[in-house]
Amino acid sequence: MNTLTVDIRKAEPGDADAIAEVHRTAWQGAYAGIIPYRALTAMINRRGSQWWANAIRRAATVLVVEIGGKIAGYATLGRNRARELSQQGEIYELYLRPEYQGIGLGTRLFAEARGRLKSHGLSGLVVWALEENQNALAFYAGAGGRDVAEGVEVFDQKAIRKVAFVWD
Ligand SMILES: CC(C)(COP(=O)(O)OP(=O)(O)OC[C@H]1O[C@@H](n2cnc3c(N)ncnc32)[C@H](O)[C@@H]1OP(=O)(O)O)[C@@H](O)C(=O)NCCC(=O)NCCS
Repeated sequence: MNTLTVDIRKAEPGDADAIAEVHRTAWQGAYAGIIPYRALTAMINRRGSQWWANAIRRAATVLVVEIGGKIAGYATLGRNRARELSQQGEIYELYLRPEYQGIGLGTRLFAEARGRLKSHGLSGLVVWALEENQNALAFYAGAGGRDVAEGVEVFDQKAIRKVAFVWD
């Protein structure tokens, strides 16, 4: 039997290609049919390897989850951007490649991201998810998040509702 080890660590510039691929496949899987095609394609294309290499070198914290040496997902995190919410930390993005979803990796990556925000002295956490992304809503509610606020994002003139989950 093969044993696959799971490792969650800060991303390095050499991970940029793999993260761009996670981003492309996860966003297509999660948002096709929700975000208009043109807007979704433009967002995905903008975030190629070069974009990720820059993001990793700059201040933003990018974590990756690696299983059996392959990058299965990433999370980005930092200070909460919504002034109307008192929580100090935010997970901006948390995405897994479709073939690695549903086996507990998201739960582990979420716990690690939350722990890192706390260890940076940020208390409380916010995550935004599109309301039509039912998997994400189920995931954050299952992880104990309270949905406390709503907002709207506009993509190619289509207004899409989003929900904020918080943990204190
Ligand atoms: C949402 C996501 C991060 C969850 O991570 P995951 O590793 O798939 O989830 P886990 O295996 O840790 O499962 C935890 C819980 O999430 C929910 N969940 C996970 N996959 C699900 C699916 N395919 N359908 C419905 N619920 C699901 C379940 O409630 C599950 O609880 P259970 O194990 O008690 O059944 C991941 O599926 C993903 O990247 N999805 C696509 C991108 C996305 O929507 N990201 C969030 C954007 S805000």
